[in-house]
Amino acid sequence: MNKQQINIIDSFGREHDYLRISLTERCNLRCMYCMPEEGVHLKENSKYMSKDEILLLANSFVKLGVKKIRLTGGEPLVRKDVAEIISELAKLDVELAITTNGILIDKYLNIFIDSGLKSINVSLDSLKKGKFKELTRRNYFDKVMSNIELLIENNFHVKLNAVLIKDENDDELIDFIEFTKNKPVHFRFIEFMPFDGNSWDKSKIVSYDSIIKIATEKYGKDLIRLTDKKNDTSKSYKISGYLGTFAVISSVTNPFCDSCNRIRLTADGKIKNCLFSNSETDLLSALRQGENIESLIRKSIWDKKEIRAGMNTMEDFSDPAEHHKNRAMISIGG
Ligand code: GTP
Ligand code: 5AD
Ligand code: SF4
Repeated sequence: MNKQQINIIDSFGREHDYLRISLTERCNLRCMYCMPEEGVHLKENSKYMSKDEILLLANSFVKLGVKKIRLTGGEPLVRKDVAEIISELAKLDVELAITTNGILIDKYLNIFIDSGLKSINVSLDSLKKGKFKELTRRNYFDKVMSNIELLIENNFHVKLNAVLIKDENDDELIDFIEFTKNKPVHFRFIEFMPFDGNSWDKSKIVSYDSIIKIATEKYGKDLIRLTDKKNDTSKSYKISGYLGTFAVISSVTNPFCDSCNRIRLTADGKIKNCLFSNSETDLLSALRQGENIESLIRKSIWDKKEIRAGMNTMEDFSDPAEHHKNRAMISIGG
C-alpha cells in the first residue's frame, strides 16, 4: 500500500484518498435515470483526456496520497484504449476498481485478471428481461447476466447496483435480496438521485427506511445489520445463512457526507469535489498549459462544501432549479 501522507484535505478535515475517473461520456445503454432520452451532446475528441493525460493526472493524485482509483463513465469499457489504460493504472500503488454496465465484461476479463483488478461494480436494475429493457432502453439482459456469472466463477468481488424507482422496479426488492441466497454478491439498492435531464421527482424515491421496513417484515430476526467500513456510502445487511449480502445507498434521505473521501475527474478533465457540485476545476487545461496541477487539486478539495455541495436539507435537494445546475449523471460518472 501507498506510504505517502494524504494531503488532499478539505476545510472540514476530511482526507481524500479515493479518485473516481470517468473514461468517457459514451454508453451502450440509455438508462432512464442516468441519460436524458435525447442523449448528451458529445464534445470534439480533443476536449477529452487522452490515455497519456489520464495516466499523468492519475500519477499526480497518487503522489498526493490517493490509494484507490475507480474507473467509471458513461460506460468505461466502450473506450477503445481502455485495456491499455487499465494495464498502466494497475502499475500504480493503488487499489484499482471499475463500475460498468456489464455488457463488455467477457471481452476484458483477461485484462482484469492480468492487471489484478478484483473489485467490479455492475449495474443491474431488474431481474426481468422485459423490465431491464424498459429501464435501459436496450436489450442486453442475457449478456449482462451471463457476464455477472462469469465474474462470480472467476472469484471477483462483485457488487450489483440497482437504482430503485417507485412503480418501476421496487416490486423486485425481495427478488433482489433472494438473489444473494446462493450467490456471493453484494446487492446495493440506491435511492434515485436528481440530475439534469433524468425527470427526478421526490415521489419516485424508494427510501432507505421503506426498504428496511419491507426486509424486516419479510425476514424478521434473520435480517442482520453488518458493520460498514469507514468510507462506505452504503449501510450493509445480510440474511442469516445467505451467501451474499446487500446494502442501501441513501444519498437522498440519509446523506453520508461526513465520511466522504471521494474526488471525481470527469472525462473532459474537470475535478468535481462532490457528486452534486456545479463548480468544477479544469485540470486538463492546466495540464496542457504546464501549470501546477497539485496545488489546483488541493485548492479544489479544500473548497468542498460540507453536505451535497450545499444542498443541506431535503427541501434544497428537492428544488428542480438545483438539478439543472449540475451535469447529467452520464457525464459525471456516478
Ligand atoms: P465503492 O464504495 O468503491 O464500491 O464504490 P461506490 O459504491 O461508491 O461506486 P459505484 O460506482 O458502484 O456507485 C454506486 C452508487 O453510489 C452510485 O449511484 C453513485 O452515484 C453513488 N455514489 C458514489 N459515490 C458517491 C458520493 O460520493 N456521494 C453520493 N451521494 N453518492 C455516491
Ligand atoms: N440516482 C442514483 N444512482 C444512479 N446511477 C446512475 N444514475 C443514478 C441516479 N440518478 C448509478 C448507476 C450506476 C452508478 C455508477 O450510478 O446505477 O451503477
Ligand atoms: Fe450507461 Fe451507466 Fe448511465 Fe446506464 S447508468 S446509461 S449504463 S452510464
